Amino acid sequence: MGTHRPVALVTGASSGIGEATALALVRAGFEVVGTSRNTAKVAPREGVTFLDLDVSSDESVTTLVQQVIDRFGRIDVLVNNAGIGSSGATEESSVAQHQRVFDINVFGVIRMTKAVLPLMRAQGRGRIINVSSFYGFAPQPFMSAYIASKHAVEGYSESVDHEVREHGVRVLLVEPGATNTSFEGNLVQPDTPLPLYESRRRTVDQAVANAVRSGDDPAVVAQGRRHRSHHRQAEAALPRGTVRQAHEPGAPSRPGPDLRPADPQVQQTAGLTPPARPMRLPAPEEATTFPASRRRA
Ligand SMILES: NC(=O)c1ccc[n+]([C@@H]2O[C@H](COP(=O)([O-])OP(=O)(O)OC[C@H]3O[C@@H](n4cnc5c(N)ncnc54)[C@H](OP(=O)(O)O)[C@@H]3O)[C@@H](O)[C@H]2O)c1
Repeated sequence: MGTHRPVALVTGASSGIGEATALALVRAGFEVVGTSRNTAKVAPREGVTFLDLDVSSDESVTTLVQQVIDRFGRIDVLVNNAGIGSSGATEESSVAQHQRVFDINVFGVIRMTKAVLPLMRAQGRGRIINVSSFYGFAPQPFMSAYIASKHAVEGYSESVDHEVREHGVRVLLVEPGATNTSFEGNLVQPDTPLPLYESRRRTVDQAVANAVRSGDDPAVVAQGRRHRSHHRQAEAALPRGTVRQAHEPGAPSRPGPDLRPADPQVQQTAGLTPPARPMRLPAPEEATTFPASRRRA
């Protein structure tokens, strides 16, 4: 079975940003396939065909992509939206927990991308839209597994975009700010909580929960109206109504700002005590003696 309409595949379309994106793509005229780990529990959405997918399973990804090809014959747009958050200081979470977050947020994106690329190349066209986050370029203590995973998605997306664009495929990033979804109820919690970190962790958890509750409606993200919504400088670098195409020709790869001035704000949000002597940046003549990778310390 084929279709004359362009086909979009949205991972994690059972709720939040994924659901809003799937519905926006239906309105835009796409044949839309949405996924969930358990489609039996998903309420039907007009215009969306739901199929089962766990992005942390190689087998599930392969099966899903083959199902879409068998049914619709093509995939024009892949939205890698499925993701989970994390809470806790890095000392409080096992390596296995960090791996769990990466397996969904990073390797899930990689699995899906690798599964659709041969088809998109053969089609000579395709768009892969990776839902990153404001936290794809900013730090946040007590969420480091999640923050590291979104930074990884950014580097991966920007690099792969270079590889595939000559084949008619582009990779784009969406970097939403706080958005009112069930995200914050699905955080991976620390498996070895330590009293030392408890109060700071709770402060951050509460701040994030408040931000999400009072955040944008998911439809705002789906319609591409607001990206990097918490950072005016970065927002100004982006035309409204578009998502960021990794490496717009001629544009800097990271239009984002220097985030060092945000450091005190990050500390304040987490209720952290600033160091007695603020860290001094090296003077230019000193910096030349540092290896390049240490100059940003
Ligand atoms: N909410 C925010 O403030 C915010 C801000 C910036 C970025 N984001 C990003 O936006 C994306 C969507 O999050 P959301 O806020 O809309 O949260 P959400 O409502 O909790 O949605 C997460 C989706 O991911 C799916 N999912 C989770 N684990 C999965 C797995 N192993 N395999 C396949 N699907 C899986 C869930 O589907 P099932 O449970 O049905 O399988 C669900 O539909 C995430 O990548 C998140 O990092 C969110």
